[in-house]
Amino acid sequence: MVELSRRRVLTAGAAGLVVAGCTAEPTPAARTDFDPTDWGSVREQFPLTRDVRQFSAYVLAAHPRPVAEAIERHRAGLDKDTHAYLDSQGGGEDAVRAAAAEYLGGRAEDVALTDSTTMGLGLLYAGVKIAAGQDVLTTEHDFYSTHQALRMRGVPVRRVRLYDDPALATADEMVAKIKAGLTSSTRVVAVTWVHSVSGVKLPIRAIADVVAAHNADRAPAERALLCVDAVHGLGVAPERVADLGCDFLVSGTHKWLFGPRGTGIVWGKAEAWAQLDPVLPSFSGPAFGEWFDGRPAGPTTAALFTPGGYHSFEHRWAVAEAFRFHLVIGRERVAARTREQVERIRAGLAGIASVSLRTPAADSAGLVCFDVAGEEPQAVVARLAGHGVSATVTPYRERRVRVGPSIVTSDEDVDALIAALR
Ligand SMILES: Cc1ncc(COP(=O)(O)O)c(C=O)c1O
Repeated sequence: MVELSRRRVLTAGAAGLVVAGCTAEPTPAARTDFDPTDWGSVREQFPLTRDVRQFSAYVLAAHPRPVAEAIERHRAGLDKDTHAYLDSQGGGEDAVRAAAAEYLGGRAEDVALTDSTTMGLGLLYAGVKIAAGQDVLTTEHDFYSTHQALRMRGVPVRRVRLYDDPALATADEMVAKIKAGLTSSTRVVAVTWVHSVSGVKLPIRAIADVVAAHNADRAPAERALLCVDAVHGLGVAPERVADLGCDFLVSGTHKWLFGPRGTGIVWGKAEAWAQLDPVLPSFSGPAFGEWFDGRPAGPTTAALFTPGGYHSFEHRWAVAEAFRFHLVIGRERVAARTREQVERIRAGLAGIASVSLRTPAADSAGLVCFDVAGEEPQAVVARLAGHGVSATVTPYRERRVRVGPSIVTSDEDVDALIAALR
């Protein structure tokens, strides 16, 4: 049982993060072949082919070298002497939680570990305490995983439309729509930080303030809980998650964060966990204690909410490296770099008459969505592929061309994208 084994501690060190009290992992900043201040060096950490401009890297992460090496180290250890290695890495999940907390700005004990955003949303919406007569407020712009997880829960769900034309969406309008949708029966507000159908970024902090005002005089079981699918914000937006004000934030760590494929987190406010029931048995100490000797496990915590069972631990433990990789580069620097490229794409697209941008100019993250007059999005994406540019079509009824600049693209890539579109 991994959770109950040896405890290890992560402490912040001069060169980023240093694992104390256990076999030291080489931190990204300590590597001689990686200069986190040099974007060329950052790009070199990825084995992604140079023959393709990688504007869809956010769909599923390639592993940067520190992550790939950590996976390989753990895989080799598990393959050589499985049980002994498992035992030796008893604090592996703690190290992930600690690195995540450092990045998110919150507490390690508020991070649950999952396999994906979809798994996290499924666990959250299956487990959140919703009494008879209460309902869920969500929006028309969320992804399948949110809508379907809510449908499977079988509670009443109301959907609001936050904007008609995404290109004209404003923070004020979106906040007002959520405010108008709140009623005394609203138990959950289920939204997505960055809409993957349009690139619109929601003002989560302002929405959290509206929800907090709505909750002001309500008992905990009557309060609306703000729950956010953050997968297109985590690893690209500058905000610290713990400052957003939401109750729960769900994300894969295998998109913009470039973490191991098949990994994710649920982060919750300390006081919000008790509003959930675990959905799958965890391998945490309190859960086992309940089974062994009937000692009540107590209120739900992130550890109790983390699904148990043995996992692909080489990937799970390597999530710590993904957070460290971003920490040494710097959350704000990643956000600024992405934003610069977004602006460059917008400027380039503005010069192509047949292109209509669907992502607003205001605060966006890394996604840029657009239509090309008279062209099917799939045909545009196929033709871009012919020019060595990787883009995607939005997996929604509203089909659009979608590109995402990131830490694996450059100004030169953006210029090639625009030239290909021309
Ligand atoms: C908004 C949104 N949420 C969730 C997902 C699914 O993420 P995951 O693979 O981590 O479940 C996607 C796309 O893949 C998405 O666009």
